[in-house]
This record gives sequence, C-alpha cells and structure tokens, in this order.
Amino acid sequence: MQAGYFSQNGSVLNFFTSEDFKVTQDELKKQVAQAALAYVKDVPIIGVGTGSTVNHFIDFLADIRHDIEGAVSSSIVSTERLKKIGIRVFELGETGDLDVYVDGADEVTPHKAMLKGGGGALTREKIVAAASKKFICIVDDSKTVDVLGKFPLPVEVIPMARSYVAREMVKLGGQPVWREGFVTDNHCDILDVHNLNILDPIALEKTINNIPGVVTVGLFAMRGADVVLIGQGDKVITR
Ligand code: A5P
Repeated sequence: MQAGYFSQNGSVLNFFTSEDFKVTQDELKKQVAQAALAYVKDVPIIGVGTGSTVNHFIDFLADIRHDIEGAVSSSIVSTERLKKIGIRVFELGETGDLDVYVDGADEVTPHKAMLKGGGGALTREKIVAAASKKFICIVDDSKTVDVLGKFPLPVEVIPMARSYVAREMVKLGGQPVWREGFVTDNHCDILDVHNLNILDPIALEKTINNIPGVVTVGLFAMRGADVVLIGQGDKVITR
C-alpha cells in the first residue's frame, strides 16, 4: 500500500508506505519501559532488572532520580548504568524487602509465568524478584507465548557440574548448549536448553532447581509476574 503527503496545490511532497509506520521492537521496549514509571511512583528504592528493555527503564529513571533514594540492581551491567546517571545502588542486604521490581523477560505466558536469563543475569534477577512485593514485567509483544520453551531455557550451573547437569537436561528431553565464553556475574556457566515444551513451568522449575550443581533455572513460574506490560503497536497493554 502506498500513501503520501501532498502540498495544497496537489504536488507530491513526500511518499511513504505503510512500512514507514511500523513501530520497531526497540521503540516498543522504550514505550513499555516508560509505562512502568507509573508503578514506581512514591517507591523509595526500586528493584531493577537487566536487559535491553530495562536499559530504557533505567534511562527514564534519570528523570525522577531526585525523587528516589536509589535502586537494588540485578546485575553488574545494570549497576553501572544506574550509577552513570547518578542513581545510588544499594545492596539487597541493606534494604530488606522491596516494594517493586521491574524487569523484562524472554517469554511470558497468559498466567504470567516467565522464561528469563537470555542476558545471563537470571540468578540475581530471581533473588531481587523474590525479595520484592510486586514484579512488573515489561515486554514487547514478541515475548508473549502460550507455552514457554521456544526460547532456549537458560540454566546457570557451577562449572564443575556443567556436563552432569547437561546430561540431566537431556533426560528431561532438552538439548543443552554450553554458552561458551560467557561467565555470569557469579562466576558460573550457562547452559541454554533447546527444544523444551514447558507445559508445567512450576513443576519443571522445581525439578531443575533440585539438580545438584544448578544455581538457578531461568523459569520464573513459582514467583511469576504480578503485572505484565506489553508494548503492542502504539499501545501498552496491561495484563
Ligand atoms: C536477563 O538475564 C534476562 O532475564 C532479561 O530480562 C531478558 O532476557 C529480557 O531481555 P531484553 O529486554 O533484552 O529482551
């Protein structure tokens, strides 16, 4: 389809197509990150996740940095970004439980169960999420799924357990791939487990958590999100 701008005498000033109106994935991330600001009003210390969507959220926090005491961060990379814009970063041990945690996800279901850890920060994300009263998940609409598992499931493992845990993942029907050359903030390894069709995320989270050598599985189902904000077209949908 083609459309265009015309001047008053009818001459063509500029042509554009419907493609020009497509909102990019990054714009959706930005939109949804901005919408999350409504959930941190009057919150003194904000739990902050990790990833490209959260990076936008951190950038928006710059505007309200004088209204907050600071943040608890889920990764070294988010800590650096927060500090760069003048936001004080507290240790979770200093603050106790938080009111709100804002983070992205790689996949999220209608039941608000999430698959996370594409950026490798899953362990600290899960800790800060567990210590927060409300989890606000911010995603663009490419992340919404009915069943988790199309995105490879990240599992953080103690390095000496990597092969053992990989064999256990095969027994569960997955195909584990070592994220070679990547070391987590906790000096551990990541296995990305492909081809899992996760019909019962709570049960699988418990099963994988119980394997010796597993630090954290990237299923956030036992403690899912409380609110999911989805950037879709020019709107933000609240689930
Ligand atoms: C980081 O380890 C992840 O859990 C991220 O929250 C998740 O991968 C979403 O990242 P993006 O916002 O970059 O898509």
